[in-house]
Amino acid sequence: MSKTYPNGLEALREVSFEVRKGEIHAIVGENGAGKSTLMNILFGLIKPTSGEILFNNNHFSPKHPSEAIDLGIGMVHQHFKLVQSITVAENIVLGMENRFQSKLRRVDREAMNESVASLIDRLRMSISPDDRIDSLPISKRQQVEILKVLYREADFVILDEPTAVLAPNEVEDFLEFVRGIREMGKTVIFISHRLGEVFSLADRITILRRGNVIGTFDKRDVDRESVANMMIGTATDLSEDPPDCLGNESVLSVEGISDVSGTIRDLSFQLREGEILGFAGVGGNGQEELFEALAGSLRLASGDIRLVGSSISSLDTLERRRAGLALITDDRMGKGLAPDRSIVENCMAGHHKFGKFGKWLIKDTDARSFTESIVADYDVRCGKNIKTAVRALSGGNMQKLLVGREIAYEPVVLVAAQPTAGVDVAARKLIHDSFRRLVKTGSGVILISGDLEEIMGLANRIIVLYRGRAVTEMTHPHYDPTEISYYMTGIRGAQDDRYSHS
Ligand SMILES: Nc1ncnc2c1ncn2[C@@H]1O[C@H](COP(=O)(O)OP(=O)(O)OP(=O)(O)O)[C@@H](O)[C@H]1O
Ligand SMILES: [Mg+2]
Repeated sequence: MSKTYPNGLEALREVSFEVRKGEIHAIVGENGAGKSTLMNILFGLIKPTSGEILFNNNHFSPKHPSEAIDLGIGMVHQHFKLVQSITVAENIVLGMENRFQSKLRRVDREAMNESVASLIDRLRMSISPDDRIDSLPISKRQQVEILKVLYREADFVILDEPTAVLAPNEVEDFLEFVRGIREMGKTVIFISHRLGEVFSLADRITILRRGNVIGTFDKRDVDRESVANMMIGTATDLSEDPPDCLGNESVLSVEGISDVSGTIRDLSFQLREGEILGFAGVGGNGQEELFEALAGSLRLASGDIRLVGSSISSLDTLERRRAGLALITDDRMGKGLAPDRSIVENCMAGHHKFGKFGKWLIKDTDARSFTESIVADYDVRCGKNIKTAVRALSGGNMQKLLVGREIAYEPVVLVAAQPTAGVDVAARKLIHDSFRRLVKTGSGVILISGDLEEIMGLANRIIVLYRGRAVTEMTHPHYDPTEISYYMTGIRGAQDDRYSHS
């Protein structure tokens, strides 16, 4: 299979691989290796430039996903979207309601819920068909997305980075769920950057590197180090230490904040110059609200936020940015970037409001060179064409672009939410290095992350969030992951309010 995109980018070069019935087959490769491209071809979403597919020994060249679905192929996309305000059952059945329509065209909700419930039971899941999607944590939404595929009787299930959005202790539950799908006799393609997950789940592993298949291996014949080497071609050091440039002045001070909905409760902390302060926690314990409170998009019921001594509580997001705050949202497609706009437009977004490029008119050449420097510094792979729409970039390349743009603000405080979710080892290192460089200049970083390894390697101090409260605080080098996980899961500290107001 080969694929050259219209802009000339060769995403796949004569790759060949084979999937066996009933196996979990992992596909690994760094950002932009061509994983999503290959899967999108299998699913009939994009047309290959050349090559062929045999599905159950029959020639198969889907022109549309419906042809793939008819053969029992299902796919959960990297950037999935569920309809938010309806129930689990409604979402799963979406588009197939006529199965449950009576002669009067009314949907028989009971029958619909029952048919969904039987699938949920078979997978021993703890959700109800009546739950509303927007009341579920991301991990459950992810499972609903897969149920939707299984409900359509898929026997061949493609999961494109399903765990990128999950918190560490949601992952094992999820992997067990995927094993349950294999037990049903189905075939699973599993894409992930996390080799721990891949080795725990997969029977076989195919490694892609820059559009080439390096090989397919039985899991028993390889180890994590050798797979990492084949993915990126060089050995990488997976262990990191936090930067060492802590100053004395406070750059950000959060004093007893609670939000109107009561999700964040009486949260207080200080961020010093040169400091990376990590917020650990299982997803859904106030991380999103903390981000929004700092960004200025969440109403506070009480408390105050100060940036270098001045209150910013009453400022909107744009005014906060002007005051020196930069924001890396975890919703890069929805809020962070404008996917249909070009790379250059996305790099300019925000910056032009600060008069960086002339007061009234943006000089084209300035915008170009500014964008080109971000693209070069952050290794954004876009076939050297900055007019490319951001939507065409791979997930990891989008993230590097977002990080590059925000750091280019030269902020006093950078607030980063899940900055390396779904990015590969090399991009992760690049993003971490950019945070390290930023704090060297005296800026502070708030790092909200579900990835404990990332926080322990990067943050000078860790606060654990549990149900909207800060339940414990630890300082480097006194990190104890087991202890942290006890606080994250509420085994310890849940009733202990010591850290909530100091
Ligand atoms: N529609 C498109 N037009 C042009 N180039 C594209 C398009 N879609 C993807 N690409 C490019 O093709 C290459 C492979 O992208 P792909 O999305 O398949 O990578 P990936 O392995 O899934 O990466 P990630 O881990 O970051 O999701 C990348 O360099 C990407 O920027
Ligand atoms: Mg991808």
